[in-house]
Amino acid sequence: MITDVLIIGGGGAAARAAIECGQKNVVIASKGLFGKSGCTVMAEGGYNAVLNPEDSFEKHYSDTMKGGGYINNKKLVEVLIKNAPKEFKNLEKFGCIFDRSENAEFAQRPFGGQSFNRTCYSGDSTGHEMIAGLMEYLNKFERIKILEDTMAIKLIVNEVFENEKKLKKCFGAVFLDLLNGDIYPIYAKSTILATGGAGQIYPITSNPKQKVGDGFAIAYREGAELIDMEMVQFHPTGMLGTGILVTEAVRGEGGILYNKNKERFMKNYDPERMELSTRDVVAKAIYNEIQEGRGIDGAVYLDVTHLDPEIIKEKLETMLSQFMLVGVDIKKEPMKVAPTAHHFMGGIKINENCETSISGLYACGEVAGGIHGANRLGGNALADTQVFGAIAGKNAFDNAENEIDISKVYNSVEKCIEDLKNAFNDSNSGDNVYSLIDELKKTMWDFVSILRDEKGLTSALEKIVEIKEKSVSINGIVDFSKKLELENMILVSEIVINSALLRKESRGAHFRNDYPKINEECIGNFVASLDGISFVKLE
Ligand code: FUM
Repeated sequence: MITDVLIIGGGGAAARAAIECGQKNVVIASKGLFGKSGCTVMAEGGYNAVLNPEDSFEKHYSDTMKGGGYINNKKLVEVLIKNAPKEFKNLEKFGCIFDRSENAEFAQRPFGGQSFNRTCYSGDSTGHEMIAGLMEYLNKFERIKILEDTMAIKLIVNEVFENEKKLKKCFGAVFLDLLNGDIYPIYAKSTILATGGAGQIYPITSNPKQKVGDGFAIAYREGAELIDMEMVQFHPTGMLGTGILVTEAVRGEGGILYNKNKERFMKNYDPERMELSTRDVVAKAIYNEIQEGRGIDGAVYLDVTHLDPEIIKEKLETMLSQFMLVGVDIKKEPMKVAPTAHHFMGGIKINENCETSISGLYACGEVAGGIHGANRLGGNALADTQVFGAIAGKNAFDNAENEIDISKVYNSVEKCIEDLKNAFNDSNSGDNVYSLIDELKKTMWDFVSILRDEKGLTSALEKIVEIKEKSVSINGIVDFSKKLELENMILVSEIVINSALLRKESRGAHFRNDYPKINEECIGNFVASLDGISFVKLE
């Protein structure tokens, strides 16, 4: 298959990118159901945009930089903030319906770490509303083809000479059909990665099962750079046990956190902002309360029983039904919540055009890194999907005006497919892939989650290397995709741990027990590539 633009991903960034280049031939390849398997559909609380004259780009910029521990890429933050309002209005054009206030303006709620109530929303199912609108709008484009249950397993990248310069160029990707096991290439003039993050390298996560870091891994293997991979956000409030998201909107609407002594403990961590402190602070506070024995069944309480039941029904409808399913009526009793792996601030290094270090390869959404620094503000991710999705789509469109000559990569792709087919050894011996995945997740949770230190990170690395050795020979009676996913999870975990070892300080979501303070020497980014991890100090 040859197309103008290939978009790999199934969420809001992929959909927005497709709309932007939908006048060309576009193939969207989604690992799960398109729209339903990305994180966008699950993001509940809202979309940050400066819409009110009393708010300003400067305030949004300053909140985002402060929340991100000042290691965000400033240019990308500026792009995000300046384009967020325009893209929000575009969503309305695509058919999304957002809540409005009594004076018919867009309603905006408070969210953590923000100096203004700038989070626009659709009840507590904002991401769902966005995806519904985007998908419907996409139907207008006859040249967009959507492939589901299609896993990208390798990018097609070759060295070429262009304008007398040697560079790496992307020609598309090789895919595994998850329904029939077929392995095949899709060649493209432009390729956009919008594959999301890797929450699934942890056992407790708000992310859908597809999010194992495929995009990070396939890009890194071909020479793309990954920035600040140690920065993994733990959302403070996941449902006890499963980690399913309990939206920040609950706290935005006035929900309070307390421990088993009925103490509103956030007063001890951030007396000014309390429950609406940034996520890194709230997650660490909850973790601390639980560790120090003030939790309840490994959780703390999140309470909205003091709110008007009509407000709960109207603005927290999803939460109401989500907890009702486990027998908890949140109008009458508190929810039990604990931190859950939620978002990778790190990811593929991009510039303001969503270009990566590989020509013809673009990245947008959570798979792209550097925008949110050390900690992302709630509500900035949905804006990110639309702003950078549109930019990636536009630049991929422009780039697809050029012709490509696939004859140069054709033979190597055929050989790669042959190798992949042979790689699956169904010898029915060795370790079970599922238990290796569980071991990896447990290791990451025990040593590479909210609190980290040299000893734990080093033993995690040893364990991951052990899992890697075992993964060479696995029990063959499994889905081939699981083996490939495990390889990606191992690679991503190694990069997260190595970057975390190098960042000898505590900043945002990266908290080192052995280096509990910010170290101004570390004000910069750790960039991982095939040559190793280097530190780039910020000016
Ligand atoms: O809590 C939430 O609704 C999640 C939003 C986000 O991650 O931006």
